[in-house]
Amino acid sequence: MRLEKYIATSGIASRRTAKKSIRAGCVTVNGEPVFIPGHPIDEETDCIEFEGKRVEPLTQHIYLMLNKPAGYVTTRRDERGRPTVMHLVAALPASIYPIGRLDLETEGLLLFTNDGEFAHRLMHPSHQIEKTYLAWVKGMPSERAIQRLREGVTIPTGKTVPAKVKRLKVNKEGVSTQCEVVIHEGKKRQVRLMFKAVGHPVLRLKRVRIGNLRLSNLPQGQYRFLTPGEITELKRL
Ligand code: URA
Repeated sequence: MRLEKYIATSGIASRRTAKKSIRAGCVTVNGEPVFIPGHPIDEETDCIEFEGKRVEPLTQHIYLMLNKPAGYVTTRRDERGRPTVMHLVAALPASIYPIGRLDLETEGLLLFTNDGEFAHRLMHPSHQIEKTYLAWVKGMPSERAIQRLREGVTIPTGKTVPAKVKRLKVNKEGVSTQCEVVIHEGKKRQVRLMFKAVGHPVLRLKRVRIGNLRLSNLPQGQYRFLTPGEITELKRL
């Protein structure tokens, strides 16, 4: 098995993080650092250490969803000491990590697992899993602006691919409008940049769906385990 796959399968880190750590010389095989991802290992006989800790093969995988409140950083550790999403799942004994990320101010559905292979597959751009967001935006976007979002707009990282966008409701004074956006890309700050590009900055953003998983009425700051049916369906997607 490839070294980074072994680490990811063991639940210690995602495959991407494992590769970075390998390149940085933080992973040893039988006491020797291996700087090249892809290094083949024998799971039965080799002794693998990740940042000085023995990597044991994992027996149980965990999958859960959190309703992330605004103000929490999606990272395992924040150098600036801000609250991270890890604080909200700290009661769990297993070492889990978030799949993908939501911006500091974005709320809603965030998945966690210790199954590195699963996380890697879900985040891979080729999978194109649909995600639904509720966006409260400034002003009242015209039908023309909504149409532009549907067709794709230019943001600093390139042109967005077509999205499903709907106006849901306008507040009384027309100060803000609630919209629904369905995208399957994961460009950084994508929804915020899309609305900015058509002149209607996002005031509040919440992810409510990833593929077959809906946030529903999970209270803010709380998490729940995925059901076996949800996990199977997500893997099938
Ligand atoms: N799009 C954004 O702009 N922010 C997020 O957190 C997720 C999608």
